[in-house]
Amino acid sequence: MTSIFLAREYGVEVWASELWVPAEDNAARFDQAGVGDQVHAVRAEAHDLPFASEQFDAILAVGSYHYFGTDDLYVGYIGKFLKTGGQLSIAVPSLHRELRELGGAPAHLRSGAGWEVLSFHTPEWWRFQWEQTGLFQVTASRAQPDGWLDWKLWCEVCAEHSPDEVVRQGSRATIPMLDTDRGELLTFALVTGRKNGPSE
Ligand SMILES: C[S@@+](CC[C@H](N)C(=O)[O-])C[C@H]1O[C@@H](n2cnc3c(N)ncnc32)[C@H](O)[C@@H]1O
Repeated sequence: MTSIFLAREYGVEVWASELWVPAEDNAARFDQAGVGDQVHAVRAEAHDLPFASEQFDAILAVGSYHYFGTDDLYVGYIGKFLKTGGQLSIAVPSLHRELRELGGAPAHLRSGAGWEVLSFHTPEWWRFQWEQTGLFQVTASRAQPDGWLDWKLWCEVCAEHSPDEVVRQGSRATIPMLDTDRGELLTFALVTGRKNGPSE
């Protein structure tokens, strides 16, 4: 969906890299959406990407970077595929406060997201992680206002319309967490950084 959006809205060429969905399924989706000649479907694990160094002007990850990018060293790996000055942008499930500050995950987060909630962080956490490497200048890191409402809407749509039972179940399990939290802790972090040159 992210790649279809980018191709349609900006007319750019996109490599849609993705682990869970077979490349041929996504390629069929891109054809159906009329962007098959602009979007290349790739199935790859995020630590083993089949791209050339400095291949991309921008790397965008929507709803996925938290699955692999909390590894302190990961931003160094993904950054290799960006040109100098290129942008890395993520939108990820996020918290307004770090779980460490709260002394652990509150019960509603644990029951809705399981122990994987440990991959949720504040926008400031992401900024620090990237800036401290010296590899990126973070140009924006903010919490999406009322992001939980978009998250809930998405879960409601998936709970009703996803063809995949696992997705329907997961979405149903997430809605009570969002309803209990009501944006107190949960939102999305929107973070963008620009890759520094070797002498910066
Ligand atoms: C909630 S979906 C986001 C969908 C995506 N933004 C789109 O436009 O369709 C999470 C995505 O994270 C990807 N993902 C999770 N773990 C991954 C990993 N270790 N390597 C590569 N991709 C991963 C999955 O393939 C999945 O499509």
